[in-house]
Amino acid sequence: MSTDLTRPPEAAPDWTISQDWARYTAGEHAMWDRLFARQSAMLPGRVTSAFMDGLDVLRMTKPGIPDFDELSERLMRKTGWQVVAVPGLVPDEVFFDHLANRRFVAGRFIRTPDQIDYLQEPDIFHDVFGHVPLLAHPAFADYMQAYGQGGLRSLGFGALHKLARLYWYTVEFGLIREGGDLKLYGAGIVSSYGESRFALEDASPNRIGFDVMRLMRTDYRIDDYQQSYFVIDSFEDLLRQTMETDFAPLYAALEDEPDLAPDAVIDGDVVLTRGTQAYAKNAASL
Ligand code: PHE
Ligand code: FE
Repeated sequence: MSTDLTRPPEAAPDWTISQDWARYTAGEHAMWDRLFARQSAMLPGRVTSAFMDGLDVLRMTKPGIPDFDELSERLMRKTGWQVVAVPGLVPDEVFFDHLANRRFVAGRFIRTPDQIDYLQEPDIFHDVFGHVPLLAHPAFADYMQAYGQGGLRSLGFGALHKLARLYWYTVEFGLIREGGDLKLYGAGIVSSYGESRFALEDASPNRIGFDVMRLMRTDYRIDDYQQSYFVIDSFEDLLRQTMETDFAPLYAALEDEPDLAPDAVIDGDVVLTRGTQAYAKNAASL
């Protein structure tokens, strides 16, 4: 998402482009297969069962990078979602409008071997491996569509900035309680080898109970592992607190509330882990 972008000439008015699947090289397909194998070995036991259930939609008839046409057909049959390619960042309204119509926008490029462990810009592995399995889960599929509708609505309240934090701390970096343990569900975590361990097992980050108002005040970092993760009780509870709640009064109430730093812990937080922030402090001192 972003503003002030110019649409490249090859993109359609809705900013989509052809995936051009036939143009991927053998090396690019091999990179997908390598990342897929590594993450699908890492995640069992760490990720929510809803993600593992959805992972099968990514097992295509052709090896390597999924072809969006085949992927969309399979996803369409499950939850009515499609995956469409875009050139990179797209304007906010475009992003929200696609989500509101059950189209997930994905980049088509894949990281290079030297970026295997971390890259800031989402590539096709993040977008597809990270996001698509949960789009096969009916409740989460509805959440993503409602988020798109809520995003369009937030623009009228000048509250996009607040709502974007909700996306970040749920869709991208969310944790969920399951069977007495914490599990991963955020796409930014599950597509990252390092953060899949860090988010669950490291002593550095805070792990705090999900609270919509709290979270819409909290800044986030885009350049390294998160300093706080927010934990939902269930997808049903997430839906109740977001989709089924009118945000207009929340946005109004938030106008008087100061923003919070990514590592803040405040009165009223349900703190599951008070992080040492050792990782973040060390990274800052390098
Ligand atoms: N229900 C919210 C509103 O009234 C929008 C929303 C939907 C937010 C789904 C997050 C997820 O604007
Ligand atoms: Fe993402």
